[in-house]
Amino acid sequence: MVSPPRPRRYLVSFDTRELPNVLADVCVIGSGVAGLRAALEAARTAEVLLVTKGPLGGGATLHAQGGIACAMGPDDSPELHAADTVNAGQGLTDPPVARLVAGEARERIEELLGWGARLDRAPDGSLALGREGGHSRARILHANGDATGAEVSRVLVSAVKALPAHRVRVLEKAYVVDLLTEGGRCLGVLADLGPAGGRQAIWAGATVLATGGAGRLYRETTNPAGATGDGLGIAHRAGAAARDLEFVQFHPTTLYVAGAPRALVTEAIRGYGAYLRDRTGRRFMPDVHPDAELAPRDVVSRAILARMRALGDVCVFVDLRHMPPEEVRARFPTVRDACATVGLDLARDLIPVRPTAHYAIGGLTCDLAGASTLPGLLVAGEVASTGLHGANRLGSNSLLEGMVFGRRAGAAAAAEATRAGGPRVGRVRAAGGGSPAAVDVADVQNSVRALLGRDIGIERDAEGLRRAAEQIAFWQGYVLPAEFPDPAGLTLQNMLTVAGGIVAGALAREETRGVHYRTDFPTRDDARFARHLEWPGLDG
Ligand code: SIN
Repeated sequence: MVSPPRPRRYLVSFDTRELPNVLADVCVIGSGVAGLRAALEAARTAEVLLVTKGPLGGGATLHAQGGIACAMGPDDSPELHAADTVNAGQGLTDPPVARLVAGEARERIEELLGWGARLDRAPDGSLALGREGGHSRARILHANGDATGAEVSRVLVSAVKALPAHRVRVLEKAYVVDLLTEGGRCLGVLADLGPAGGRQAIWAGATVLATGGAGRLYRETTNPAGATGDGLGIAHRAGAAARDLEFVQFHPTTLYVAGAPRALVTEAIRGYGAYLRDRTGRRFMPDVHPDAELAPRDVVSRAILARMRALGDVCVFVDLRHMPPEEVRARFPTVRDACATVGLDLARDLIPVRPTAHYAIGGLTCDLAGASTLPGLLVAGEVASTGLHGANRLGSNSLLEGMVFGRRAGAAAAAEATRAGGPRVGRVRAAGGGSPAAVDVADVQNSVRALLGRDIGIERDAEGLRRAAEQIAFWQGYVLPAEFPDPAGLTLQNMLTVAGGIVAGALAREETRGVHYRTDFPTRDDARFARHLEWPGLDG
């Protein structure tokens, strides 16, 4: 077995005395729902610098379709919402966290409406409520049919832009290479602004990491290009603990047509009444689970995989032909348009779909305020493990979690910055790694994605996981020691670091729980594994 090299503490060589030094009370990294909400909260009392890899508001939030879970109906309550969440989490959801998030949902929705969000309404003017798997009540709020994330993003971006420039400065297209630490405390970040801007040391009284997920470690994913696990990689090198990386949630229904983007076909479509059929036309979910198409996501994903295998197919089909066509097209415009790009009519055609990697359930360990195990570093959103999702995330709980924990992390960061007396300019120097050799970065990235899809996918076993661990360690052996000049190589280093954490967790968890399905350990083993599995950070 190849033993993986220890990653270097910093990926590039630098001396902060030789770089432009930028100061902020609070530095927020990431501009999805959690980062934007954190920035808005911190900006109430602190000066914020919001650093984002792409344009402001880009990232996975923009693509979220289904909606935001919130107990609103007369037959519903936050207690029921929390109970459904705990039930889905299969023993690993922290009940107080579920109660906190479900209990705060209404307040966060009111706030969003106050900022101008246009959520869809029923004919009587009340907020329209959709259904999704695992939710025992209709409680999914949505916007523009199936473009909820885009609306949330629009509203939060305009709220940030409406603040005076000195309260929130925005640095777009800035790649965070590493967290700067001294004496076991996070003091800010080293950012790469590309050829024109160069590198900068950003010193902050507190830093909020809200960089999203890691779906792009898989070849087939619903996630946008930026979801490469950078936040996990940089926090790991800085010493922050993470946990449960083996819990990678697959979304059962992603549009699967050669050459077309892997667009999400929202679960809300099944909540609305869509059937899943195999190539022979058979509706197979009623034989698998009493909730049929609305069974938990892991059950639906595995059932699809089983049908594909049984028939030697690469996809199954979403069928809405029994529903009113005009209503279908109006209710799901995002999916309608994605289908139309490849000549399919959502209302009249069978839509080819298959499961793809969707959500990193595990992440950086944090408390109820979003504080990670690294002093000075708060976390929120998909990069965090708050204890809400357990071993199986309920659909539409994560925009909500992003708002709840984004707000908390932002408030905690502002308080922390005040306690710390504002930013402290330290001095951090890092020695260089080896020259990057002639590594074809894109080729290794593609190979990582293919490997994870094959050996750390919906179903795992020791043989495939050991093979994956060996291969990842081999790639790490020549990629991690090198110093790459630009973000593509640094991204690959983060991908390999995080892939190592995922395979280690998947090998260690010798049981089946939630989205982690081990064919060689097909039952849940509470005696050994009713607990989180930690991926410790490197020692500072
Ligand atoms: C969906 O619309 O199906 C995705 C929602 C989610 O994953 O929360």
